[in-house]
Amino acid sequence: MTGDSEFHELLHSLRVWDTALPAFDPASAPGQPLELFREWFVHAARAGQVEPHTMSLATVDADGRPDVRILMLHEADARGWHFASHATSAKGRQLAERPEAALAFYWPAVGRQVRLRGRVSACGPQESRADLAVCSRGALAAALTGRQSEVLGSPQELAEASAAAWERAAAEPDAPAPTWTRYVLDPAEAEFFQGDAARRHVRLRYRRDGRGGWTRELLWP
Ligand SMILES: Cc1cc2nc3c(=O)[nH]c(=O)nc-3n(C[C@H](O)[C@H](O)[C@H](O)COP(=O)(O)O)c2cc1C
Repeated sequence: MTGDSEFHELLHSLRVWDTALPAFDPASAPGQPLELFREWFVHAARAGQVEPHTMSLATVDADGRPDVRILMLHEADARGWHFASHATSAKGRQLAERPEAALAFYWPAVGRQVRLRGRVSACGPQESRADLAVCSRGALAAALTGRQSEVLGSPQELAEASAAAWERAAAEPDAPAPTWTRYVLDPAEAEFFQGDAARRHVRLRYRRDGRGGWTRELLWP
C-alpha cells in the first residue's frame, strides 16, 4: 500500500497554473455563452487537452443529496448542452425527479474551467435512439447491456451480458435501446474561469436577463 508520507509528499508537490497560460480578456467576450464555449473548446483541443469533451454532471437526489459523475458531451447548440445516459440509472432517476443539473469542464492544458447550471429536458425516443446511431458499436453495446447503476452480482455476469450485447449490436445495428436517453441542459447561468499563475484568475459569469439576452459580470476569484 502507498504509505502516508509518500502520498502526502506527492500530493503537496503538485502544482496548478504553473505553466504558460493563455490570456482571456472578458471585455471582448461574445454576448452569449455558447459562442465562448465553442471557442474555448476548440482552443483547448488544439492546445492538446486530452478528452476535452468529458465533463462532470452534478444532480441531486430526491432527498436533496448531491451526486456527480463524468459524462461525454454530445453537442452544444442553441438548445443547450447535450449528453446521454440511461433513464433508469441513478442520474436518470434523479433527473426525472428534479430536472436541474450542473455541468463542469476542466481543461488543465489551458487552465480553464467552464461551469453551467440549468434545467434539463429529456429528448423523445426517436432523438434518443438517433443519438446512438452516430456513436461507435461499443456505445450501442453498452446501451444494450443496460442495468446501469444496479448492483452487479459478479464480473462474470457483466462479461456474459456485454458479450451478448456486442453480438446483438453487430447483428442488429438498429436494435432498440429503450432506456437510452438524450438529455439537454439549457443553462440559466454559465461561468468561464481562466486560471492565472498570480492567482488573479478571471471569472466571467453569464446570467439570463429574462429578456432573451444575457447579463455578463465578473466575479472575484
Ligand atoms: C470518461 C468517461 C465518460 C463517460 N461517459 C458517459 C456517458 O456519456 N454516459 C453515461 O451514461 N455514462 C458515462 N460514463 C460513466 C459515468 O461516469 C457513470 O459511471 C455512469 O453513468 C453511472 O452514473 P450514475 O450511477 O450516477 O447514474 C463515463 C465515465 C467516464 C470516466
